[in-house]
Amino acid sequence: MKKPIVVSGLKPTGKLHLGNYLGAIKQYIDFQKDPKIDNFFFIADYHALTQKYNASEKYDEIIEMIADMLSLGIDPEKATLYIQSDILEIANVSWLLGNVISAGQLQNMIEFREKVEQGQPASCGLLNYPILMAADILAFKASFVPVGEDQRQHVELARDAARNFNKRFGETFPVPQGIYVKGLRIKSLDDPSKKMSKSLPKGCLYLSDTPETLRKKVRSAVTDSGTEIVYDPENKPALANLLTIYSEFSNRPIKDIEKDHKNSSYAVFKDALADVLIDELSDFQERKAGIIKDKENLRKIFSEGSDKARAIAAGTLKEMKQKTGLF
Ligand code: ADP
Ligand code: TRP
Repeated sequence: MKKPIVVSGLKPTGKLHLGNYLGAIKQYIDFQKDPKIDNFFFIADYHALTQKYNASEKYDEIIEMIADMLSLGIDPEKATLYIQSDILEIANVSWLLGNVISAGQLQNMIEFREKVEQGQPASCGLLNYPILMAADILAFKASFVPVGEDQRQHVELARDAARNFNKRFGETFPVPQGIYVKGLRIKSLDDPSKKMSKSLPKGCLYLSDTPETLRKKVRSAVTDSGTEIVYDPENKPALANLLTIYSEFSNRPIKDIEKDHKNSSYAVFKDALADVLIDELSDFQERKAGIIKDKENLRKIFSEGSDKARAIAAGTLKEMKQKTGLF
């Protein structure tokens, strides 16, 4: 029996932050633990080019992200790791899928509109972003796609693409299912109404932040009125966000953390949170410093992964070409 396939990608557009880790990568690691699943994790480098960037920095960003993935515990023995642009077949699959996706649907994508509003050029690359993402998923006939909540609309489009293609050309793709961490959305530390994002650097905790920076950012996080440490996302969204981060990083239920801090002030609670983050992230940073030194080994891991991924994507492309009437 074929194992169910999990596919997910990370876009190398800057340093990883806590939202990326808790919203996406932590799930990869859970999937990877399950021997009944075949995992494919990749660097979405073509997607990264859909927004303004500096070409002289991109290569280093890609290397950093590869090292991040490995240092966070993604294991090449348990998952196939590759770079999107190494698998030429994916762009071909994307072209074929373009014919079963409507232009209107692309123009209505929230992320497209947001990016353009934020000043990104309304390029065809940015508009077609979701088709390429559908190809990333369908080229491997994935059943599950672990991503952050904000990717839901893109996953829905990939589901539509699978259904439309199957309807028009015969059963080809399983309809992939998005896996969203309990709706987890880490909020910006300086504005809990916004998600933590690299576009809001002040409220963003990076995995590479030094202990001093982490402590400083946590200490200056906005808090809500009142003094009690209780989880109340409605009335105390800033504190609820900090408790969520604490719980995710310490792997302890929020209830226990509330109990520990029953009599704590916000300041004491924040310092305890900073301690947890510093502890975990220092270990990660140490591992990464070792891993990134050996670039040859990084290349080897990713080129072995690419060979495996390419063979699968080539099989799907061949099937699609036959079904769509090509030679
Ligand atoms: P950013 O918003 O900082 O540009 P990306 O768009 O590169 O981050 O997101 C990479 C992954 O991390 C996606 O799967 C996304 O859903 C997830 N993610 C990003 N920010 C958050 C957040 N604040 N909370 C939860 N998940 C997030
Ligand atoms: N769009 C995703 C993000 O911004 C990255 C991505 C590209 C992806 N292709 C994918 C995620 C395929 C899952 C599956 O995070």
